[in-house]
Amino acid sequence: MEQRKFGPVERLVSVIGQGTWQIDDATHASAVATLRRGFDLGMTHIDTAEMYGDAELVIAEALAAHRDELFLVSKVLPGNASRQGTIAACERSLRRLRTDRLDCYLLHWRGRYPLAETFAAFKQLQSEGKILSWGVSNFDVDDLEDAVAAAGGDGQIACNQVLYHLQERAIEHAVIPWCEQHGVAVVGYSPFGHGGFPGPRTAGGKVLQEIADARGATPRQVALRFLTRQAGLFTIPKASNAEHAADNAAAGDLELTPDDIARIDKAFPRGANRGGLPMI
Ligand SMILES: NC(=O)c1ccc[n+]([C@@H]2O[C@H](COP(=O)([O-])OP(=O)(O)OC[C@H]3O[C@@H](n4cnc5c(N)ncnc54)[C@H](OP(=O)(O)O)[C@@H]3O)[C@@H](O)[C@H]2O)c1
Repeated sequence: MEQRKFGPVERLVSVIGQGTWQIDDATHASAVATLRRGFDLGMTHIDTAEMYGDAELVIAEALAAHRDELFLVSKVLPGNASRQGTIAACERSLRRLRTDRLDCYLLHWRGRYPLAETFAAFKQLQSEGKILSWGVSNFDVDDLEDAVAAAGGDGQIACNQVLYHLQERAIEHAVIPWCEQHGVAVVGYSPFGHGGFPGPRTAGGKVLQEIADARGATPRQVALRFLTRQAGLFTIPKASNAEHAADNAAAGDLELTPDDIARIDKAFPRGANRGGLPMI
């Protein structure tokens, strides 16, 4: 599994991680086994959120003997993101996850509390050793500019977690270039379109299958690799089935040629810049 530097954080993080939204829809045992299979195959970057219900409880059980290998990320809901509310939310997540620290803590999306207030809480949590780093999610470029100003400069925001899959490439216009320039990692969420992955009979699906066949891979592995084709990009597919986790993990070692990348780019065009940041 390829690992990369995560923005300004002094840690290497797996390019393919594991999302956990709705992982608790599977049986508890199956969800725990899936996450563990993923850890064993190097998908040690784990994404969760206080919003994801019992997902933090599933992770708590899965991480037992693995905590030190993991890069564990959770998120505060905007409605809780006051100075005191952020601290309380983080402490609740730590209790649910049965751990003493998060590796990164994110504001899930921008809400009514001033960013300076939320970030002051993040800095306090960081100084207390409860979080290693912090960042944002669903931030467009104007939000990112405000965030850097509220943070007091570059080098503090670890990542921006945003929607990114083959049929939704809007972040390539401005968000990815901005993050690259400011040293902020980009974590793409819903890499399979939250259940809308191109089927084998579609034109795009056929291109993915041909490339997959040529590389001894699967179409989903090809997609994950395309989505992490540049430095600074990470992806967090969610699986609740251990075979799916193993399939996703193998993307971490896949190599696509420039010709493969060009074919995917053509089959799933990024489209014009219509402005605005898509999110789900
Ligand atoms: N920051 C945000 O606002 C935000 C928003 C959305 C998502 N996220 C994060 O991003 C993560 C991923 O996004 P997502 O959950 O929306 O959806 P996703 O990862 O795009 O797709 C998940 C779906 O793909 C299936 N799948 C996964 N691997 C597969 C494989 N190898 N073969 C066949 N099917 C496979 C899963 O099935 P099974 O479950 O049956 O394995 C599930 O139905 C979330 O879990 C969450 O952590 C963040």
